[in-house]
Amino acid sequence: MTDFATAKEKYVHGVFAAIARRYDLMNTLLSFNRDKYWRRFAVAQTGLAAGGSALDVCCGTGLLALELARAAGPGGRVTGLDFCREMLAVAAGNVAASPCGGRVELVEGNAMALPFADDSFDCATIGFALRNVPDIAAVLAEMRRVVRPGGKVVSLELAKPSAPVFKQLYYLYFERILPLLGKAGAGVDGPYRWLPESLRRFPHQAVVRDIFTAAGLKDAVYHELTGGIVAVHVGRK
Ligand SMILES: C[S@@+](CC[C@H](N)C(=O)[O-])C[C@H]1O[C@@H](n2cnc3c(N)ncnc32)[C@H](O)[C@@H]1O
Repeated sequence: MTDFATAKEKYVHGVFAAIARRYDLMNTLLSFNRDKYWRRFAVAQTGLAAGGSALDVCCGTGLLALELARAAGPGGRVTGLDFCREMLAVAAGNVAASPCGGRVELVEGNAMALPFADDSFDCATIGFALRNVPDIAAVLAEMRRVVRPGGKVVSLELAKPSAPVFKQLYYLYFERILPLLGKAGAGVDGPYRWLPESLRRFPHQAVVRDIFTAAGLKDAVYHELTGGIVAVHVGRK
């Protein structure tokens, strides 16, 4: 990895270690509770059937992995992977408290080099994290590698809304108000300044779709949700 990639990884790791315990609450508050609907929508795009297997990359506190576990049903199996122990510790609590938790295994690892064999899962997801990894194309290539032929790779991520007025109001909230709310709620400053900064550096959703295609994912499409503040990308191996 380049020095920049290594520095970004270290910085991102520190951001999530600092906010892990408040992450779920802040997500619900700052997204006006829309995060649950976004996760359900993303899981619906995976085509995960009852009894199937799924990998959730950068699983954080495990909420997307648990949504996958619900879809996979009693015979299903879900693996959540993250490199931040503090986030995985919260995930372990969420998994233990869920009736679907028995289907979820948590693994410490790096999205840039997934510790799984080729063709291991029916689908792979990544939620609010492509923005955070050092190399989007490399992570998508890894997700494609571990999914079986025909399986889906799905990303749920913040996006760039385009409708006039809505867009201005949204950026006012996201860039000016949200960092202040985040600081007040989480008790630390840096992480919620990173959120708008990471979106500024992240490509437009149409470009992300092209990166899906370049990573060898077929029929790549994206769905904009909630006025385009979030996008769900889907591609097929
Ligand atoms: C914004 S959180 C998203 C958590 C969860 N997916 C969700 O939907 O709420 C981003 C997560 O990505 C993890 N992460 C970032 N870069 C990573 C990497 N290279 N490998 C593994 N995990 C990574 C962070 O530790 C953090 O838990």
